[in-house]
Amino acid sequence: MTESVFVVAVDGPAGSGKSSVSRLAARRLGYGYLDTGAAYRALAWHVLEHEGDTSDSTGVLDFVGDFDYAISLDPDDYWVRVGGTDVTDAIREPRVSEAVSGVARIAPIRESVNALFRALVAESDRPGIVVEGRDITTVVFPQAPVRILLTASPDVRAERRSAELAAQDPSSVADALSRRDASDSTVVDFLTPAPGVTLVDSTDLDLDQTVQAVLDVIGEVQASG
Ligand code: DC
Repeated sequence: MTESVFVVAVDGPAGSGKSSVSRLAARRLGYGYLDTGAAYRALAWHVLEHEGDTSDSTGVLDFVGDFDYAISLDPDDYWVRVGGTDVTDAIREPRVSEAVSGVARIAPIRESVNALFRALVAESDRPGIVVEGRDITTVVFPQAPVRILLTASPDVRAERRSAELAAQDPSSVADALSRRDASDSTVVDFLTPAPGVTLVDSTDLDLDQTVQAVLDVIGEVQASG
């Protein structure tokens, strides 16, 4: 990690609100924002576009060579591109959400995207960056000065996700969420804070209050350092 960029590492499960909270906190601080899940999603999208099988780890590796990935680090202008095509919305489609865990489970892929994340952070032109994902506090930036695990109860996460998706049936959203939790947690444990990681439980907090809780943790670290 470069000494000059102040890294705020935020991990959490699907529906914990970590993307919105991280982006808003970055905005408030004038920091960059890096959504790491987007890289796994974009690769899953790329494989699906080429009619590949995301559950075939060896096959997926063949798609990495021509995977031309770019992401914005600007919290006010978020976009994701593959081969110059804007895939910002496409990578949120249910078919990608269903397939992405298969891609994220492949160890060599994790190593190469982690190297990419570190390079992106090192090149950041802002004083700090909020990096969110599943293993940022433990694997990607375990030495970050601020490391936060953002959680919420499974019911609240399902409620938030179904509001986001404007879904008719909250119970199917809850099922999909618990399937993703189960599948994602075989790769990294993002439900228990590692030593030194601050737990922020947003179950009883609204979005603004959660952003404030995260800003408070950052402020305390900066005041003590
Ligand atoms: O946060 P998200 O839903 O966009 O993440 C998409 C997928 O990528 C999900 O299956 C978890 C995985 N992921 C991961 O394994 N490690 C990360 N640092 C970020 C996401």
